[in-house]
Amino acid sequence: MRAEDGAVDDSVLVGRSVEVEVLETRLAAAVAGVGTVVLIEGEAGIGKSALVREVAASAGRRGVHVFAAGTATDRGPVQPFALLVRTLLSLGPPATAVERELAGLIGKYREDWARWSSPDQTLDRTQIEELLAELLHERAANGPSVVLLEDLHLVDDASLRVLERLAAGGAIPSTMLVATTRTVPRRPELVTAVAAWTRAGAAPLEVPALTPPAAVELGERLLGSRAGPVLRARLSAAGGNPQFIVDLVTAAQESDAVVADADGAVELAGGVVLRDLNQRLSARVAYVGHEALALLSIAAVLGSSFMDADLAAVAEMPEDEIWRVLRHCSAAGLVQARGGRLTFRHDLVRDALYAGLTPAVRRDLHRRASRVLFEAGAPAAVVQEHLARADDLHGETC
Ligand SMILES: Nc1ncnc2c1ncn2[C@@H]1O[C@H](COP(=O)(O)OP(=O)(O)O)[C@@H](O)[C@H]1O
Ligand SMILES: [Mg+2]
Repeated sequence: MRAEDGAVDDSVLVGRSVEVEVLETRLAAAVAGVGTVVLIEGEAGIGKSALVREVAASAGRRGVHVFAAGTATDRGPVQPFALLVRTLLSLGPPATAVERELAGLIGKYREDWARWSSPDQTLDRTQIEELLAELLHERAANGPSVVLLEDLHLVDDASLRVLERLAAGGAIPSTMLVATTRTVPRRPELVTAVAAWTRAGAAPLEVPALTPPAAVELGERLLGSRAGPVLRARLSAAGGNPQFIVDLVTAAQESDAVVADADGAVELAGGVVLRDLNQRLSARVAYVGHEALALLSIAAVLGSSFMDADLAAVAEMPEDEIWRVLRHCSAAGLVQARGGRLTFRHDLVRDALYAGLTPAVRRDLHRRASRVLFEAGAPAAVVQEHLARADDLHGETC
C-alpha cells in the first residue's frame, strides 16, 4: 500500500490485532480512571515502536493527552533524567510550581554531574525523584493521559531509578504508562526497575514474530503486489521480524531485483545480489555484542540448524562457554534452543553473518566443520559439502 507521494503507508499494522486489542483495553481502563502499566518487550525491529504509535494514535482519537519523548534515536545524548524530562516537562517555560522547581533542580544536578562526572558527588536526587512523581500525579489530575517511555534499555539510570521508586506507589490513576524495551542488553538498573513494576502488577506484552502469512502480507504490502514463490521464501527467512522484511524489500527495490513474473506477481530476479542487505542486517544485530556475533558467524557455517557440541568443536571452545554466549543470543531472539539443537531465528541474519566472514576464515571453518561432522557420524554428503565449499574458496583472496 503506497501513498501518492510514494511513501509506504504503515498506518495499519499487519498481524497485530491481538496486541492492539490488549493495548486498547488498557487505554479504555485509563480513560475510565484506572491506572495501568504495560511493558512491551521484544527483539530489535519486531514492532514495539509501531505498537506505541498505535497507542498514541488511538489516544489522540479519544482526546487523551499523550506525553512522549520519542525513540532513543530521536532523543539524542543521554543526560541524567533525560527520558523523564523530555517526556514530562513542557518544551516551553515551566508552567506550574512543580515544573519550575524541577527545572531548577535538574539544571543544578546536571551542572554538578558534568563537573564531577560522577552522580555520587552531586546534590540529593531524592527531591527530584519525588517531584517527578508528583508531576505525573499532577498531570493525571487534569484528565486521562498516556505516558510513552520508549527504549528503556537505552535510557539514563536516573530516570530508571525514578521509575523504580514510582512503582512503590503502584499505577497512577487515569494514567496509562507504556514502556518498551529490548530483551537484551539487561542493565542492572533496568532489571531492578522492571522487577519493581512487575511486583506492582505491570502487564508484560511480549511482541511475537509475525506469522508466516502475516510476514508475506507485509512484504506484499510494501511491494504493492502479490509475491512469487522465491520472494515469499526470502520474506519467510526474515523470521517474522518486520524490520528485516522492510530491509529485504528496500534492498530488492534499490538493487532493481524486483521483476514481474508470468502470473502477475512480482519475483526476485535470479543472480542479483541485494545491495547493502547483508551490511544492513549485520548492523541491525550488532547490539548483541562482538562475542555473540563472532560465535554466531561460526555457527552460520554449520547451517540454519546445528548441534551445540559441533559448534563447540568448530569454535574450539568449551561447551559451557558456548552456552553462556548462546543463552544471550537466545534472549536476543537470534537463535532458538531445543535441547542441544539450535536454530537461527532469521535465516537472513545467518546469511548476512556468513557473508561477513573473510574467505580465509570461511575456508578454515568449513574444513573444521567437515572434520567435526565426520567424527560425529554425519552423512558423507554433508562432510563432502563442507570440503567442497572450502575448496571453492581456495582461490579467493582474504
Ligand atoms: N505489524 C506491523 N505492520 C507493518 N509494519 C510494521 C509492523 N511492525 C513493525 N513495522 C515496521 O517495521 C519497522 C520496525 O518496527 P519498529 O516498531 O521500529 O521496531 P522496534 O521498535 O521493535 O525496534 C518499522 O518500519 C515499522 O513501521
Ligand atoms: Mg523502537
